[in-house]
Amino acid sequence: MHGPNPSWREQLLSELQNLRENALQRSLSSASHEGRFIHVSARRLLNLSSNDYLAFASEPAIIEAGIQALKSLGTGAGASRLVTGHTPAHAQCEAAFAYLKHAEAALVFPTGYMANLGVITALAGPDDLIISDKANHASLLDAARFTGATHRVFPHANYEKLERLLENADAKKPRRTLIVTDSVFSMDGDTADLPRLADLAQRHDAILIVDEAHATGVLGASGAGLCELQNVTDKVHVVISTASKALGCAGGIVTASQLIVDTLINKARPFIYTTGLPPAVASMITQALDLVRTQPQRRLRLHDLSERARREIDALNRFPRVTSQGPVTPIIPIIVRTAENALALARHLSAHNIHAPAIRPPTVAPGASRVRISLRCDLHDDDITQLVNALKSWAV
Ligand SMILES: Cc1ncc(COP(=O)(O)O)c(C=O)c1O
Repeated sequence: MHGPNPSWREQLLSELQNLRENALQRSLSSASHEGRFIHVSARRLLNLSSNDYLAFASEPAIIEAGIQALKSLGTGAGASRLVTGHTPAHAQCEAAFAYLKHAEAALVFPTGYMANLGVITALAGPDDLIISDKANHASLLDAARFTGATHRVFPHANYEKLERLLENADAKKPRRTLIVTDSVFSMDGDTADLPRLADLAQRHDAILIVDEAHATGVLGASGAGLCELQNVTDKVHVVISTASKALGCAGGIVTASQLIVDTLINKARPFIYTTGLPPAVASMITQALDLVRTQPQRRLRLHDLSERARREIDALNRFPRVTSQGPVTPIIPIIVRTAENALALARHLSAHNIHAPAIRPPTVAPGASRVRISLRCDLHDDDITQLVNALKSWAV
């Protein structure tokens, strides 16, 4: 016999209890940052879990640009961009982004998540087809669901499967087809094959949308990202970047043709119905872009650290390989399968004065739990030695 339905409070408690029992419960812990260190639970640990790849979040020139802009422009945009929230600071930031990306135009959203939501929902509707790599960022997958379009997901980097989906689509004739991919995949640190995707997009008349969140400022001769490194800048139709990672600030930036940007200004609800990014943040982004241009040594150092760490982790012969033929990125997954193992490895690293939390489902697939190392350019050589020694001494 069934009793009455549990109350909504009982349901929520039981859902959280379930997460706890499966080592999947998440909680916030307050942390303060000091360059490459992080202060958590009254301890000062090496921070190997930050997306501040170029150490820009504490860069005096960027902080100063923010202070000056706060003094002259105030704290908030005061309205949505289309009402009165569009300031010269936004215009300057967009011009600087378009210049870096060799794009006709740029548009700044308050976050990368919102930029992804805005792009996909403005470009696709119920008559369209969206094809996504399974390992794409959650914001891209969420966005596709919001559109009402037919959404097909291909196994990570399986471009044969993508091609078959495109061939099927040609027969069904959707109004538009979007191919959506991360450039650097946020959990695995591997990269898309953009020339191949650009070729498929061209052959099937699809819009190619690339999320460069983890590549802008990090990859490419001028820091423009994987499109630059793989020489496809003029073949990718829409690029999304975030200022929250290598640029050390916040904000999502779309670079594309004027046609696409005009479409977003008119149709992207996460752009239209939200207050503009605080103008001081736009000024900080512009300053960060200036440093991306004038300080290439930061991304070169990051590259060297990433290459060395990958090589030495593989030499331990304990974890799935992290060196590959593809471009070297600062995201290094240490895959230990179960959520319990990932939590144990994170605790072990913490005992060795390293902060790198466990990443568990649903962020990654069941059985693919990991500790995700992300490196920053201000790490010392000894820091990599500390990491490799800590991994070496881990006993499962
Ligand atoms: C690939 C990718 N795209 C988009 C985002 C969202 O960017 P933001 O943090 O600026 O919202 C993230 C991370 O948060 C990401 O890793």
